[in-house]
Amino acid sequence: MKKNTPLPPLGAAEQQRYIGAIRAENDRIFEASGRRPGAFVQTFGCQQNEADSEKFAGMCEEMGYAIVEDPAEADFIVVNTCAIREHAEKRTLSIVGQYKHLKEKNPALVIAVCGCMMAQEHRQNDIKFRYPYVDFVMGPSSLHRLPQLLVQKRKTGKRIYCPEEAEYTVVEDLPIRRESSYRAWVSVMYGCNNFCSYCIVPYVRGRERSREKDKIIAEVRDLVEKGYKDITLLGQNVNSYAKDRAEGYDFADLLSELDAIEGDFVLRFMTSHPKDASRKLIDVMASSKHIAHQFHLPMQSGSDRILSLMNRRYDTQKYLGIVDYMKEKMPDVTITSDIIVGFPGETEEDFEGTMQMLSRVRFDMLYSFIYSPRKGTPAAEMEQVPREVTAVRFDRLLALQKEIGQERNDALVGKTLRVLCDGVSKGNDTLYSGRTEGNKIAFFEGDEKDVGTFVNVTVERADAFALWGKKQ
Ligand code: 5AD
Ligand code: SF4
Repeated sequence: MKKNTPLPPLGAAEQQRYIGAIRAENDRIFEASGRRPGAFVQTFGCQQNEADSEKFAGMCEEMGYAIVEDPAEADFIVVNTCAIREHAEKRTLSIVGQYKHLKEKNPALVIAVCGCMMAQEHRQNDIKFRYPYVDFVMGPSSLHRLPQLLVQKRKTGKRIYCPEEAEYTVVEDLPIRRESSYRAWVSVMYGCNNFCSYCIVPYVRGRERSREKDKIIAEVRDLVEKGYKDITLLGQNVNSYAKDRAEGYDFADLLSELDAIEGDFVLRFMTSHPKDASRKLIDVMASSKHIAHQFHLPMQSGSDRILSLMNRRYDTQKYLGIVDYMKEKMPDVTITSDIIVGFPGETEEDFEGTMQMLSRVRFDMLYSFIYSPRKGTPAAEMEQVPREVTAVRFDRLLALQKEIGQERNDALVGKTLRVLCDGVSKGNDTLYSGRTEGNKIAFFEGDEKDVGTFVNVTVERADAFALWGKKQ
């Protein structure tokens, strides 16, 4: 999408030099003032972005910053943006707008805007012309360049618009500052080759590239040894893992090897594409010790005509085949999905197809989105469905899913489930909350020492989105 000259790869030694340079400066400030400069990392978007932000925070820490929770206390702000829908982009720009007054108060403040939005030329231009106080911008594939760009900014004082990488690579061994001490993300592959016609991801995150399996296995083993209890393997297309490596090794093989690691932990993965959801993968899950019987399998639409316009490369029959096989092999499986309402040209009949698929599959939960045109994608050029029509369909979809979700959760009443406790519930501080193996939220009367451990909860009641029960 961008026309600037690409940047050459950045070696590990050079990377360390840049980190060291900033660290020396921050150490000096600390010695002189007794205060460590603060870094604030703000994340929008998906789990991949959350995982990337843990690397931003890890690099900031290595550069001698203290991670702070309040942007007003920061000397360095990193905004990690999302481009998936317009709403996410608008929100981000409005937050970046609010940082203007922080820069006025503290002219030494450095503001970096990173992530998927910044891999689009028109969004880089928004920053260039409308947010002159932002110091540098870069796309998600350049994440490891944070220290380099910071050094360059300090040296030249000039704003930087980081160009695309010369080649999309996997950068290993970046420092990670994990948000949790018992839940962890592990990226196994980056990018996407699918070019679904509505989606910006392949344009902003580049082509699929998978990490070496030994690196992934070592990372998961290390996490388990450190006591992590819930580990999610991440990729835009996680079950296409290793297709780019052509080593005759696939995602199911990786899962089998990870499942063999000794310890008390649950393994999950997201997001899967139905075209790569093989029987072999489901067999590995069904016979595993550690892999949660939970599958997030975006369907997007229940109309074959729309699926074809979306370039999804499966039809409803194929989708149902996967779901039926999953239910046969794992009767306790939790299935969730993504649905887009109002894709260009969606007729009432197409939408009815989606509603019928909901009733047929009976998803445990849905993430539903109103179609949002993304500049540069084929669907943005197609004839759009009027907003009023989409809004009505969206409400109908939510209402049907609410009924199904309620029934699915009611079926768990009386059952005892293993729940990983997250702490005092945010909405109701007399209860603790956690996640079941199926990744459902469960509330119960807990204890501070339950946090980060598995507890058994007998479900007493449910709504469409959560369970309430008694700890055993
Ligand atoms: N408009 C609406 N939803 C979208 N998604 C991706 N692109 C768009 C878009 N342009 C949804 C898909 C995907 C999820 C992460 O976001 O359902 O699975
Ligand atoms: Fe987007 Fe499709 Fe790739 Fe998912 S698989 S990231 S929806 S292009």
